[in-house]
Amino acid sequence: MNLDRRTVLSGIIASAIASGLPFRALAAAEVARVDDLIKRMTIEEKAGQMTCLADSFRPFNPPNPQVGIQDEKRLSDEIRKGRVGCLFNGIGVAGARKAQELAVNGSRLGIPLLFAGDVIHGLKTIFPVPLGEASSFDPGLAQRTARAMAIEATAAGLHLTFAPMADVARDQRWGRVVEGAGEDVTLTSLLTAARIRGFQGRDLRKDDSLLACPKHFAAYGAVAGGLEYGNVDISDETLRETHLPPFSAGFSAGALTTMAAFNEINGVPATADRTLLTDILRGEMGFHGFVFSDYTADEELIAHGFAEDERDAARLAVLAGVDMSMQSGLYIRYLPDLVKSGAVPMGTVDVAVRRILYVKMAMGLFDNPWRSLDENAEKSRIETSGHRALAREAGARSIVLLQNDGVLPLDAGRKQKIALIGPFGEDKTNLYGPWAFYGDPGKGIDVASGLREAMGDAELLSVMPGCGIQDAIDGGIEVAVKAAKDADIVILAVGEAQDMSGEAQSRTTIEIPPAQQALADAVAAVKKPTVVLLRHGRALAIHGGVANANAVLATWFLGSEAGNAIADVLFGKVDPSGKLPVSFPWESGQEPFFYDRKSTGRPVLARGSTEYKARYATTDNSARYPFGHGLSYTQFALDRLQLSDPALRWDESVTITARLTNKGKRRGSETVQLYIRDRVASRTRPIREFKKMERVTLEPGESRAVRFTLARADLEFVGAGNRRLAEPGVFDIWVGQSSEDGLHGQITLYAAELPQG
Ligand code: BGC
Repeated sequence: MNLDRRTVLSGIIASAIASGLPFRALAAAEVARVDDLIKRMTIEEKAGQMTCLADSFRPFNPPNPQVGIQDEKRLSDEIRKGRVGCLFNGIGVAGARKAQELAVNGSRLGIPLLFAGDVIHGLKTIFPVPLGEASSFDPGLAQRTARAMAIEATAAGLHLTFAPMADVARDQRWGRVVEGAGEDVTLTSLLTAARIRGFQGRDLRKDDSLLACPKHFAAYGAVAGGLEYGNVDISDETLRETHLPPFSAGFSAGALTTMAAFNEINGVPATADRTLLTDILRGEMGFHGFVFSDYTADEELIAHGFAEDERDAARLAVLAGVDMSMQSGLYIRYLPDLVKSGAVPMGTVDVAVRRILYVKMAMGLFDNPWRSLDENAEKSRIETSGHRALAREAGARSIVLLQNDGVLPLDAGRKQKIALIGPFGEDKTNLYGPWAFYGDPGKGIDVASGLREAMGDAELLSVMPGCGIQDAIDGGIEVAVKAAKDADIVILAVGEAQDMSGEAQSRTTIEIPPAQQALADAVAAVKKPTVVLLRHGRALAIHGGVANANAVLATWFLGSEAGNAIADVLFGKVDPSGKLPVSFPWESGQEPFFYDRKSTGRPVLARGSTEYKARYATTDNSARYPFGHGLSYTQFALDRLQLSDPALRWDESVTITARLTNKGKRRGSETVQLYIRDRVASRTRPIREFKKMERVTLEPGESRAVRFTLARADLEFVGAGNRRLAEPGVFDIWVGQSSEDGLHGQITLYAAELPQG
């Protein structure tokens, strides 16, 4: 499908109108300006616009192999010649102005550069990792933190972030779980859209609007065995049902770029997959922006065994629909000749260039190439006290109380000795989490500092690592055991280092490293009231002294304010209200594991035998902590499930209400969740599907009705022939506090043609 000027334009306008979003349609004069440029551009200049290179003016060291141009002088020459359209992963206004000056006033056509970067969960103020923040189940919060990140990033000379990650992560061994919103398609869709709204703001032309790039298109979260850069073999239906919707949500929220994934799908690398990048992305999903390759992914088509050589790789990528090549430099090297030889039509190149120029135009770069390059903003908009406060709030909201026998909350005023044991007590190098390389090391609040600040008498805190993250410390366990004996309360801070998740950090086991497990087991044997603070970038399988503690909290990587956020929750200043966006299995070997799995023909039933049933001989195939689980310091109860009508007519909706009561003695917040199950369908359906949520805050003794509406669209799935459809019949519904509990009801969907009533 070749998009001509009119379709691209009307598409942009249509999507802007349809989404009612921040996209101001291009004026006729702007379209004419792009037309004129395209007419005047040489093929080298066109290939240049389609090239994005690492920023040597202000280099950073993101987690990528060092390839390509490494020095400012060579890059300056390339910009002057119009051989580059986008720089990425540098920050700082001075360097960006230098580069922009070369593009605008030093190159023949003066087309401004686009500055991109990976601002995944913060620039200088680091917010919780996206997976952590997903535990808030709160799109409003995700939008606010994304806005704050955008304000900082655009003050530091960036126009676009390679975020949010919209991949649904189905296997916790995959290290990039940490960058997304977890295992569920609906939650990921809601949070992807919210983050994009936050990054871009209401007006793309504003100086603090940061373009978003939902990535990685597509199905990266389905790599076999959770192996990074691995392969995906997937049905067309599952691709459309589980992995594409978050991208659609992102495009409806106004995203104008996306990034092709590293992985192959069903034997075709995404970067060379025309069906995926053109027919599906543009034809089915109506995307009208431009597509980045991932880092050198076009060149990697050779290693995939899909392209013969670099020239072939460039040809395949551009024909598939990759508009902007990241870092390999293949487009600038090979497109001129590919076009000259007729292997790539000039029309294909023109469409790609047009898409890129339209986006640059839409964000106001042609009118003001100096937007987001303001030294005053750089001084005043970064790491403000407001952003730090938001990081603290988001940190506390990201914590999930997994279990608690009543040991929490701690009483800050009470004279009790606390022993903080474990490698993360005073550690400052693993607070931010992966993909926070712009953050200043050492500026985050560690756990010990947070606790001291919160305690009436900081002298009552003793801190010792007991072991390293991976290695034992000589005599460390003995010292820790002694400290535990002397203390009234033990806080065990254990888990993963920040470089154990993120890109290229797939793991075969998702457990606490053995040295820390040994420490935890030894400390547990002391039998003091023990609280475990997990630090992690994925769901974990926990055991022994970690799992059997009196309280266990998922604290992910919480960013700049980690220690304060943790103290806020431990001492009850903030009631924990997080819910798990990923299921915690019993054992690593259950992966890939997610709550919305299929029944099989031999499901294990609640009170039935487990013989010859779909389970592992060694482990129950259930969750230790399921998706949606998370406790509070107060107790909530649900009752009075009511349906406006048990019959759902084709074009109508039903209202489902339940009463939530705070039965405890403290104020608290609960996220009530609505799940469905389609009993019988032409394609088997999951045992549960998350559909909606509602956050409610209640005083002790207070009750409130929680209300959901359910319509046919909520019951749809992708059936044979990739058709989205709902099938008449019986649906279970649950209104609950996790994916495993809830009040149960039933509705029946009636087909249009059947007599109603
Ligand atoms: C990652 C992308 C990232 C890009 C640029 C790649 O290795 O897969 O997510 O945006 O590098 O840093």
